[in-house]
Amino acid sequence: MERLVDTRARPLRSLRLSVTDRCNLRCAYCMPEEEYAWLGRDTLLTFEELHRLARRFQALGVNRLRLTGGEPLLRRELHVLVRLLAGLGLADLALTTNGLLLAEQAQALKAAGLGRLTVSLDTLRPGTFKQLTRRDRLEDVLRGIGAASDVGFGPELKLDTVVLAGVNDDELIDLLAFARERRAEVRFIEYMDVGGATRWSRSQVVSRQQILQTIERANGRAEPLPGRGSEPAERFRLADGTTFGIIASTTAPFCGACDRARLAANGTLLLCLYASQGLDLRTPLRAGVSDEALDGLIRGAWLGRTARGAEDRLALEGLRGPSRALDELRRAPLLEMHTRGG
Ligand code: GTP
Ligand code: 5AD
Ligand code: SF4
Repeated sequence: MERLVDTRARPLRSLRLSVTDRCNLRCAYCMPEEEYAWLGRDTLLTFEELHRLARRFQALGVNRLRLTGGEPLLRRELHVLVRLLAGLGLADLALTTNGLLLAEQAQALKAAGLGRLTVSLDTLRPGTFKQLTRRDRLEDVLRGIGAASDVGFGPELKLDTVVLAGVNDDELIDLLAFARERRAEVRFIEYMDVGGATRWSRSQVVSRQQILQTIERANGRAEPLPGRGSEPAERFRLADGTTFGIIASTTAPFCGACDRARLAANGTLLLCLYASQGLDLRTPLRAGVSDEALDGLIRGAWLGRTARGAEDRLALEGLRGPSRALDELRRAPLLEMHTRGG
């Protein structure tokens, strides 16, 4: 296996595969608009194509793979793909979901070899859930989380909470308690000005520092845990043993350690969550390219990688606003967070 590093000496270790750009929620921080331009159905990679690309990334150093969307559980027969990918024997095979369809699929995903699961859970209040996602489906998410624990995702279960000022920032302590009861780990995420977040404003960001303050005021000191490596989350432990994470991509980005490549559902390789452009791997793939040539394309892209999107955004300081205009997003749906995988 190769050890490939980019222009900032960052290895290629982690691949995020988006399997669909569709979603069954409309989270205010991700899909606030009424209308979206979708990727063409015939441009979506098949399971065989996804598997082949995953193999090539593995040969180039990837040992962690995460399936994302949109909402990945909307992709029909996803467990079939999971089984194919599990066959690669990677160190880590994970999935991020909004949980709506999880109750029906948790068992099949586990049986197919999925290792870890992250469920987005921003609130425990049905009214807030509806306001935030435009769907009245909190019950389904909670059922999904219960099913995930029941089929044995237990300690490998994470809950992701995007914290928005005035929406759910008064629920941090309740979410911590909820996670503790289910032996899951909650991660509080700063609201990011990524493409798609067209309503982003600095005033709605709850910073890492504010999150910590709120938690420490209620629960006492949060001790930082060592061994973060390239993970986006800083982890902490409370006196009672509860652990939690904070992902501070807005005020304290982790670009310096970022080892992730992402593949949009149409086979476009993206080297950063904020990247303006990607590399089309679908066209060569469908033209019958050899493994060597595919490796060459991916290798070339990674060797030239300069990406540090979140740090560049931070440098704008007071000038920060949504990173993309609406007409730009309409013309180029690949700029959307739901298209490139959260
Ligand atoms: P594991 O460490 O594998 O459990 O997952 P993760 O920490 O990568 O978490 P996950 O994939 O669930 O991502 C959590 C959140 O981190 C996302 O929703 C984003 O807000 C943020 N995030 C993920 N990838 C990136 C990235 O490449 N750059 C930045 N700046 N933020 C990211
Ligand atoms: N800021 C932070 N995280 C976001 N996500 C989507 N949009 C944003 C944003 N603007 C992440 C959330 C969600 C996942 C699918 O994508 O963590 O749970
Ligand atoms: Fe919400 Fe995820 Fe769907 Fe975006 S892709 S609207 S964050 S559930």
